[in-house]
Amino acid sequence: VLADSAGNYLAGLKLVVSAGPTREPLDPVRFISNRSSGKMGYALARAAVAAGADVTLVSGPVQLPAPAGAELVEVETALQMHDAVLKACRNADVYIGAAAVADYRAKQIAAHKLKKAETGADVIQLEKNPDIVADVAALQPKPWVVGFAAETEDLENYALGKLRSKNLDMIAANWVGRAEGGFDSERNALQVFWRDGRKALEMADKTSLAVQLLQLIAERMHEKNP
Ligand code: CTP
Ligand code: CA
Repeated sequence: VLADSAGNYLAGLKLVVSAGPTREPLDPVRFISNRSSGKMGYALARAAVAAGADVTLVSGPVQLPAPAGAELVEVETALQMHDAVLKACRNADVYIGAAAVADYRAKQIAAHKLKKAETGADVIQLEKNPDIVADVAALQPKPWVVGFAAETEDLENYALGKLRSKNLDMIAANWVGRAEGGFDSERNALQVFWRDGRKALEMADKTSLAVQLLQLIAERMHEKNP
């Protein structure tokens, strides 16, 4: 019902994806970051272009080629990603937050390289970054908002908690720190939750997982606004 003969099940939709880690500088040579490779977000951007969407990819620093046909906005910090995503989402139909946003940034960024012997250099004061996906979900008009959750324990409870507290339409959760799947892997498995339903997407390469997730999003959006 959703896909036309060409499989353009996202034709006419403006979709924004965030991907990769953010980098929070401490001084000119050091930063705080995380293990995100960006592979899932880039796979989603490629699959969404193939499905006919008008795609903006907001990306933290990754080692991946730019997806053909998508507008790529490269950022470094969570604050930069916040600005770029909110700007791109102003007239978007769908936002998928696949980025691993650093929860905290340094309260002060030293102008010079911190020295070992410097007093206080053993304490880094942090402050919280804004929650990008929650801020997108608070926009009026609100795009269809999909979050991700990478968890090492209690996956379902944490994912459902994030779905509600951030006012998301859908959340895709995955285990990390296990034998297969997760950050650096080419493959992953996803437990997808929405208000009144769920679906398990079995272990697969991130390209086919991206197509399955986008088809599920298209289905759910259609159900809500037939
Ligand atoms: N997220 C975001 N902005 C942040 C932190 C997270 O947009 N500052 C988004 C992520 O892109 C993801 C979702 O929120 O789509 C869940 O991220 P996660 O790190 O699992 O959730 P947190 O709310 O940060 O909770 P915690 O790290 O404590 O588990
Ligand atoms: Ca977090």
